Amino acid sequence: MSDQAPDHAHVTWHPHSVTRAEREQFHGHGGCVVWFTGLSGCGKSTVANAVDRLLFERGVRSFLLDGDNIRHGLNAAPPLLVERHGEEFAKRFGLGFSAQDREENIRRIAAVAQLFCSAGIVTLTAFVSPYRVDRDAARALVQQAGDADDFLEVFVDTPLDVCERRDPKGLYKKARAGEIKNFTGIDDPYEPPLRPELVVQGAALPPEQLAQQVVNELLRRGKLKGTSQG
Ligand code: ADX
Repeated sequence: MSDQAPDHAHVTWHPHSVTRAEREQFHGHGGCVVWFTGLSGCGKSTVANAVDRLLFERGVRSFLLDGDNIRHGLNAAPPLLVERHGEEFAKRFGLGFSAQDREENIRRIAAVAQLFCSAGIVTLTAFVSPYRVDRDAARALVQQAGDADDFLEVFVDTPLDVCERRDPKGLYKKARAGEIKNFTGIDDPYEPPLRPELVVQGAALPPEQLAQQVVNELLRRGKLKGTSQG
């Protein structure tokens, strides 16, 4: 065994000079993470964007971390990294859709969401996040750094056949044709939440009304205290 200390042994956590409480007082509301989960095409991004708009109009500091967008940058796929960083780097840090790559996708986003939350921002995330264990780890990270009520899991419950009929990016068609492997709901699992803070029926109402349900839940839980009608 090496007698060298592990890499992380000489990395220390520094307390911040501006506290979360100070930031929240400044904003007039608390930070939290609203974690949307559901199948591709279920309406997560659309509803989360509509929530973001409603919050913005109320004067709430909010921000949306969206799966498809994050996979263009922070969690880019290997082919997006090759040109600038080379093959080895792209293979090591680029993310696809294996269970382990999804785990790392969600781990990084949970860490970012936790930072946003501690910056006093109402942080919306829209990722398929198909595995319970990964979502539970995100929940634990956010709650451990703050409070138990900092994490709200919102299940956008849209039946697979509806998502497949919508097929906004034509990906279900490709998955059925075998052109995309490990596609969630087709040849890869989706594990619905067991105890989400909120379920919205993605096929039952227009996205604006589902977004209002999410905002109502935030209000009910006192997360928007200090904002207009909060
Ligand atoms: S997650 O499973 O790791 O949480 P994420 O939300 O980042 O997934 O990305 C999902 C989006 O990537 C889908 O909305 C879809 O547009 C696209 N996508 C491409 N390949 C797949 C796949 N194999 N499974 C699911 N989504 C895929």
